[in-house]
Amino acid sequence: MSMPYRFLSSLTLCLLLQAVSSAAGVLPGASVDMGRKTYTDKCLSCHGDIDNPILPQIFVGRNNPTVIRGAFTSVSQMRADTTLAKLTDADVSNLAIFLAKSNTTDSDRVFDWGQKSFPSLLVGPVQSGTLSGYYFRLYTGSQVYIATQGDASNGGRAFFYAPASGSGILDLGTIQSFLPSAAAAGF
Ligand code: HEC
Repeated sequence: MSMPYRFLSSLTLCLLLQAVSSAAGVLPGASVDMGRKTYTDKCLSCHGDIDNPILPQIFVGRNNPTVIRGAFTSVSQMRADTTLAKLTDADVSNLAIFLAKSNTTDSDRVFDWGQKSFPSLLVGPVQSGTLSGYYFRLYTGSQVYIATQGDASNGGRAFFYAPASGSGILDLGTIQSFLPSAAAAGF
């Protein structure tokens, strides 16, 4: 395949993927951690623990902000809670991705994306843990760390640390800034 053709076909694929993800209506930077906070605040009292929900019908809202927004008015018990209608589109997108990925965190989504995108840099076996407020993965094969501090709801940041490089801990930016890439790659 010639270069320009390859470029064009991957561009087409990108546009197609974008179209697919915007058709679902979840905003590209939607955050599982922020969705978890909003769920605890606004939904938990009726729907219960997400791992064993009292009203499992809620899962029709997985990845689907339109369905969630619709339930705010179509379910009479929900309509009675007038604070629900005040949730922003970003809040509802966060809820939609949380319902789809409630067993993970934004940090793990970003780490999973990094691991898939940079396999020659992030070489396993992987150990993960927490230390001094950092949540990290150590790639024992290449002796590099990726880490986060905080989460997307409080401006949490991502870091890279390769002890052998001598360059110290590198601040990669906010966790939030990586979420569109993680989501586009299916994480
Ligand atoms: C006051 C109680 C209450 C609160 C608060 C509440 N729900 Fe519900 N929700 C219900 C009930 C009851 C049903 C089941 C309706 C039925 O199936 O008859 C339901 C159903 C749903 C459904 C399924 C609707 C459908 O089309 O089948 C979704 C999605 C949903 N809730 C999302 C949420 C989200 C997200 C929140 C928090 C932002 C929330 N709910 C907060 C009571 C509540």
